[in-house]
Amino acid sequence: KLTVSDLDLKGKKVLMRVDFNVPIKDGVIGNDNRIVAALPTIKYVIEHGGKAILLSHLGRIKKEDDKPGLSMRPVAERLSNLLNKPVTFVPTTEGKQLEDAIDGLNDGDVLVMENTRYEDVKDGEYVKRESGNDPELGKYWASLGDVFVNDAFGTAHRSHASNAGIAANMAQTAAGFLMEKEIKFIGGAVDNPEHPFVAILGGAKVSDKIGVIDNLLAKADKILIGGGMTYTFYAAKGIKIGNSLVEKDKIDLAKEILDKAGDKLVLPVDSVVAEKFDNDAPHKTVEGDVPDGYMALDIGPKSIAEFEDVLKSAKTVVWNGPMGVFEMSNYAEGTLEIGKFLGTLTEAKTIVGGGDSTAAVQQLGVADKLSHISTGGGASLEYLEGKTLPGIAAISDK
Ligand code: 3PG
Repeated sequence: KLTVSDLDLKGKKVLMRVDFNVPIKDGVIGNDNRIVAALPTIKYVIEHGGKAILLSHLGRIKKEDDKPGLSMRPVAERLSNLLNKPVTFVPTTEGKQLEDAIDGLNDGDVLVMENTRYEDVKDGEYVKRESGNDPELGKYWASLGDVFVNDAFGTAHRSHASNAGIAANMAQTAAGFLMEKEIKFIGGAVDNPEHPFVAILGGAKVSDKIGVIDNLLAKADKILIGGGMTYTFYAAKGIKIGNSLVEKDKIDLAKEILDKAGDKLVLPVDSVVAEKFDNDAPHKTVEGDVPDGYMALDIGPKSIAEFEDVLKSAKTVVWNGPMGVFEMSNYAEGTLEIGKFLGTLTEAKTIVGGGDSTAAVQQLGVADKLSHISTGGGASLEYLEGKTLPGIAAISDK
């Protein structure tokens, strides 16, 4: 794929699609991982004399009232702090004010335009110009720049005006360094992993991970299952689940997966079970059957030990999804122990995705010991499912 380092940037208006869709509440940014992750590409562009024009969505906009709380202004301010230089924020997504601001840029300047999804609501109507990839909008945004760099891996599973739409109107689209890194690590794991390849999949629902399990069964040597989805598999095996989370309509599918997977799929052998979904509820560890009146909220110590035993010889590890109710301290052990263990696997390529798994490795301070932490939620899952992501497909080949 073509990357930003293949482009001549000097004096060019460089349109950059980034994924600055960060958690934000009352104008306060929850964590800025995604902004930090885009810095290498932004710095490269401005250091090479480009004028960086940044586009991103933030949240989802379905009505006028959604707009004020989802302005890019605080994001532009944070970017300015991180770059330690002024960033021009333009509070609109089209028109003269934006065009004049772009014309006024000097080489090495940075501009952030308003949330691209402001285009989804016009005069109070939900018209989805951005999210519906309105061809006119992609064409208009493309007309604002000379070259296009797509660094928004987190948005790569969407075919929206600001990624696929702009690309369709540019002679070439180059990947940014973040995009390149995500493709290298996640794409590398899926297409050409070094074996043994172990996937650890957690989270509440089997339905969220079916596509990933299906695709990875053909590629991975082991798939370790944790989190709430375990108990749909338990139900499929006839193990008692008490009041644990279960997707009843997925039990048959879970059976099919278990039959197909044989010993590739490893379920937890023990669970931390509680009387209520409450950190302070009475809880204990049990093997196998979850007793009546209890719900399973974490994997137990034997499961952790078994998982670690599988992991220690791995050469490639992909982890997505918590092993338990990570936000409650009494049920966070499984997730934290797996995160800690991955931090010790210096021989293996370790790739982590998903909000809770990422939070766990950051909380443990082992993030920099891992090979790659994905900035993609849905995008990394769809990539692991083996799907073609429109945002990646739109990047030109060298
Ligand atoms: C994400 O956070 O997964 C991406 O930024 C995409 O956001 P979306 O699901 O609102 O399209």
